[in-house]
Amino acid sequence: MTHLFDSLTLRETEIPNRLTVSPMCQYSVEDRDGLATPWHHVHLGSRAVGGAGLVLSEATAVEPRGRITPEDLGIWSEEHAEALKETTEFVKSQGAVPGIQLAHAGRKASKTRPWEGSEPLQPDEGGWEVVAPSDEPWPYDEEAPPTRAMDADDIADVIDAFREGAEHALDAGFEVAEVHGAHGYLLHEFLSPVTNDRDDEYGGSFENRARLVREVTEAVREVWPDEKPVLVRLSGTDWREDTESWTVEQSARLADLLHEAGADLIDVSSGGISPDAFPDWAGPNYQLALAEHVRENAESDIAVGTVGGVTTPEQGEAIVRNDRADLVIVGREFLRDPYFGLHAAHELGYADEVDVPVQYARGFTERL
Ligand code: FNR
Repeated sequence: MTHLFDSLTLRETEIPNRLTVSPMCQYSVEDRDGLATPWHHVHLGSRAVGGAGLVLSEATAVEPRGRITPEDLGIWSEEHAEALKETTEFVKSQGAVPGIQLAHAGRKASKTRPWEGSEPLQPDEGGWEVVAPSDEPWPYDEEAPPTRAMDADDIADVIDAFREGAEHALDAGFEVAEVHGAHGYLLHEFLSPVTNDRDDEYGGSFENRARLVREVTEAVREVWPDEKPVLVRLSGTDWREDTESWTVEQSARLADLLHEAGADLIDVSSGGISPDAFPDWAGPNYQLALAEHVRENAESDIAVGTVGGVTTPEQGEAIVRNDRADLVIVGREFLRDPYFGLHAAHELGYADEVDVPVQYARGFTERL
């Protein structure tokens, strides 16, 4: 029976255990240039030290206008790749696999950091014009940044930006690429009828709304080596029953299209399409049923990861032992405890299956 500290091989890439650090924006770029700083190095590096099998970077913008805030990481040039190299090498030196979340924020771009209120930033305040499937802005209390509906050239540019971002990510040393198709950002905005009212081949039917994320996945796969996996994070549902919206049934259908496009695993999250798009309850494993639905209803054998409300080793162990998902992706618990992986391994009796760094060994063998 598979357990939390068994490896998972996707294509030819072996992830040493199922515990994954969820992508989490750090809003910590110093000069608004998208370049990684010591904070990113320590944030990702310490979680590799801490026993995670796969360490995913924060949403990393494939072009400057795809950043949520001016302080987001970017991957739109070789300089950006260079700034991340030491981090990916360090993550690998700790036995973990470094992954990058390739992202474009669409209409949720150009705002201040959460601790500054997530307020819209206008171009004269260091913000920029944002692009989206339609010119309907995110419904801020204040005036939104100028929001433009993308034309065919914009769409082609975004697909190219994801392809080039993936090339730079490979040069930076990442082994896993995750396409961010969730949380109300650009690709999800195309998927959801809540935000997509286009009447061209990128709007209307399910196939048309799914076209952009499919083409982006194909573009990433074109440059991502055959032996390395591509993941896609989706919002399994919009949590919007009041209107035509994105649903878990569509997510399962999309998983098959993405599998054909070269994706190996769907990371199943939810929500984010509009300010009222939240689950009623967000307790332990609150998105696991969505991942299970995708896995059971997709016709392909695409793998799934679950994220959301996993805070204890036992939860992660039960998810894998009961074969409910292939990866257990953990966000906030890894903020509280960078060594959650080591703690989990010791608590569950798998201490021999993780490498405690020699520098830290006495902390795990001597209690006083
Ligand atoms: C997030 N989340 C997130 N998701 C994502 O896909 N890309 C991102 O960059 C971020 N950024 C981010 C920052 C911070 C500070 C938090 C707390 C969350 C969502 C995150 O990856 C995860 O899906 C949720 O936090 C739910 O998982 P947990 O926290 O319940 O384990």
